[in-house]
Amino acid sequence: DGTPLLLFNETWYPASSIRGAVSFQQNFRAQDSDIILASMPKSGTTWLKALTFSVVSRDRYSPKESPLITAPPHELVPFLEVDLYLKSQNPNLDFPPPRILSCHTHYTYLPESIRDSNCKIVYVCRNPLDQAVSDFVFVRDRVSGIANPLSSSLIDEGFENICRGVQSYGPFWNNVLSYWKASLERPDKVLFLKYEDLKEDIILNLKRLAEFLGFPFTEEEEKEGVIEEISRLCSFDNLKDLEVNRNGVHSSGFSNSAFFRKGEVGDWGNHFTPSMAERFWKIVEGKLDGSGLTFKLSQ
Ligand code: A3P
Repeated sequence: DGTPLLLFNETWYPASSIRGAVSFQQNFRAQDSDIILASMPKSGTTWLKALTFSVVSRDRYSPKESPLITAPPHELVPFLEVDLYLKSQNPNLDFPPPRILSCHTHYTYLPESIRDSNCKIVYVCRNPLDQAVSDFVFVRDRVSGIANPLSSSLIDEGFENICRGVQSYGPFWNNVLSYWKASLERPDKVLFLKYEDLKEDIILNLKRLAEFLGFPFTEEEEKEGVIEEISRLCSFDNLKDLEVNRNGVHSSGFSNSAFFRKGEVGDWGNHFTPSMAERFWKIVEGKLDGSGLTFKLSQ
């Protein structure tokens, strides 16, 4: 598909981000006030970026004047493996605390300063079937630049790969389990969220997020409906319809609209055959066995 994957640190990195990934791992110095948003790609990172940005900057901007209205979430929250390398080749970003940064590197291979400092990590994951479909479409559209119905050959070719864990920043199970275990061992350090839970109860999860980050909502804010306002600002429908996200172009060349497709739980049912879904799901279940981590496949 034009984006070969390279194995480094037991992780399948897209070739285009390998230099950035190495630079990130070797040179990045975390600050205690940093907030790191981690995920497998296509798991709700964009949503989490918008939510986190809104929570920590709510004293500075009302939802009506939020920078999210004119900038896509990925411009407000740099991507550590690629943006830092491309922008300056100097991984120490210079903007006021708390810096919000994102990455897809497995917990085990994060720079030591992230694991050892007091910075916080929020991980978002998504059921592996929806994650895979979202990634297939994202890669296809980025390569072809046109939105065709998902071609069956793309899924067929990619299917054997995902069954072996060969996917961007995968294996899926290593990525999620590394953070899942860290969140159990260090609950003050790592907050573990699921896309399906955010879809089910965004208010509850926004409160958890704000509290975890040390920016809890006050009773007054709750009464004034601040949490609801943030959830509306960051909702799929609202962000997708903004001019900047409909027609803007990302610095690496693909359109901002590629980050907003369907935003649903269970779309995998429209793309995988039942036998493919069952086979892949069995593999993932086997890998997660004994961890206590579960996924909802439909809302
Ligand atoms: P779909 O392709 O299934 O629609 P990431 O941000 O990690 O790249 O993930 C992208 C996925 O999250 C896409 O899924 C996208 O539509 C969905 N998404 C983006 N913004 C969202 C939002 N505000 N709420 C819910 N889903 C969102």
